[in-house]
Order: sequence, then C-alpha cells, then structure tokens
Amino acid sequence: MDLGLKDRRALVTAASKGLGRACAEGLVAEGARVFISSRDPERTGREIGAAGWLASDLSSEDGPERTAGEAARVLGGLDIVIVNAGGPPPGTFQSTDLPAWEAGFQLTLMSAIRLVKATLPLLRQSEQGRIVFITSISVRQPIPNIVISNAMRAAVTGLAKTLSRELAPDRITVNCVAPDAILTDRIRHLAGGDEENVRRMAERTPMRRLGTPEEFAAACVFLCSRQAAYISGQTLGVDGGSTLGVH
Ligand SMILES: NC(=O)c1ccc[n+]([C@@H]2O[C@H](COP(=O)([O-])OP(=O)(O)OC[C@H]3O[C@@H](n4cnc5c(N)ncnc54)[C@H](OP(=O)(O)O)[C@@H]3O)[C@@H](O)[C@H]2O)c1
Repeated sequence: MDLGLKDRRALVTAASKGLGRACAEGLVAEGARVFISSRDPERTGREIGAAGWLASDLSSEDGPERTAGEAARVLGGLDIVIVNAGGPPPGTFQSTDLPAWEAGFQLTLMSAIRLVKATLPLLRQSEQGRIVFITSISVRQPIPNIVISNAMRAAVTGLAKTLSRELAPDRITVNCVAPDAILTDRIRHLAGGDEENVRRMAERTPMRRLGTPEEFAAACVFLCSRQAAYISGQTLGVDGGSTLGVH
C-alpha cells in the first residue's frame, strides 16, 4: 500500500533510540523527509538518513520551540509531528517527592504542550497535518510503581482529544499511540537492567513475548498516512492484547 508519505515533512522528537527512532526510521522508509531531536541525536540522525537533527532537551522551556523552528527551517515547513519524550522515573505516590512531580510535568506534559504550540502554525499550512502523541497503555490500565507517568499520560490524552476537535477544521488529525512492553532501553531500565526480569515480563504477556519497536512504529506511521485522514481523537494501543478493558 502506498501510504502517501513520500516527501512529507516530519518531526520526531526523542528519536535517538527506542520508539522514537523506530518511528523516524519507519517514516524515512516511506520516503518522508524526517527531522529528529533528542539530547544527543547526531549519530542516529546520520544512521537513519534523517534530513536534519537538533540536540535539545524537551523538558527545558525553550527546547520544544527551538526544535520546531529548526525542523521547519530545514524541511521548509511541517506536515507531521510525532510527539515523544523520555519516560519519567518510576516510583509510588509515597516515594515520589514534589520536585520529581514538577520534573515529570515538564518532561511529559509541558513538552507536549510547548511542541504543539510551536508547530501548530506550520501544521495549519499543511494539506493534511498529523499529530501523533506517544503515550502509554497506562492511560487504560495504570501501571504500578510509575505514578508520574500514569498521571501525566492521562493529561496528554485529554489534550490530544481536545485538540482533535479543535483542529479538525484545519484537516489536522490528532491521535495517541499507547505502547506496552515494547523492548527498548526504557523497558530494560524498568526491569532493573536484569535480563531475567525482562524474560519474566515477556512471559506475563498474552503473546509470551515483548513487542518490537518496529511493530510499534508501524502503527504510528499508518496514523501519519493519507489513508488515516478520517481517524482522529483515538488512542491506539500497541500492547499485544495485554489490556483487559473492552475499549
Ligand atoms: N517501551 C515501552 O514499552 C513503553 C511503554 C509505555 C510508555 N513508554 C514511553 O514511550 C516513550 C519512549 O519510550 P522508549 O521505550 O523509546 O524509551 P527509550 O528507549 O529510553 O528512549 C527514550 C528517548 O527519549 C530521549 N529523551 C529522553 N529524555 C529527553 C529529553 N529530556 N529531551 C529530549 N529527548 C529525551 C532519549 O534520547 P537522548 O538520551 O539522546 O535525549 C531517547 O531517544 C517514553 O516516554 C516511555 O516512557 C514506552
């Protein structure tokens, strides 16, 4: 299927590895011109054939705006934004102090708000704008011991749903893709760097395996496609069937 992504101009943030990188690679494979960012994106940018990259910290006040500006300068506009950031640290409510909440708020929610604010004027000029937020399956089923993520992803999902209505007249679709247990460094870190824990995590999934970043990226790339023009305001779980709810 031709996804109509050739020469489309895409920004993928937090894309030096893991899910962001896989999304950027997926878009490059479809012929899109892709700009990536992270705190250290250069090696990945070269490896995947990105059109450009910028080192920026998304949780800083000016990081998202600088990233959007440089992406637009290099690409000559923007059609697609995949909004991603690193995951906040794990912890229970009891073990999480207020500075950690503030840092998580900046990293997960404010970075998304700032990035959309900065890219919206550009997306409005696109014939078919796309915003995809990478969230977490915790929006359907909160995950024990990552309370900041559980709270902030719900906020991002509310933001996405609201935006989908506001931006529909501008032909911009807004969706979330919610991963669960896709094997990346984030999962290795949450497993305490212990391969045996990773194996046990895989055993607990319905498919008895973790997902691959490429399987996750395929969902994001489809939502960026021409064919997905009438899909907006949705959360698509890429979780190997792990959630128990019916919606
Ligand atoms: N993997 C899963 O199954 C899963 C499940 C639920 C939710 N998620 C969420 O999905 C997102 C991506 O996860 P992942 O598994 O791909 O994680 P990952 O492998 O740890 O990659 C994280 C990426 O974020 C970048 N990054 C981190 N902090 C940043 C910052 N302050 N500013 C800019 N870039 C930053 C990192 O690059 P630099 O170090 O170069 O900055 C890296 O490219 C995370 O928010 C994670 O919590 C993942």
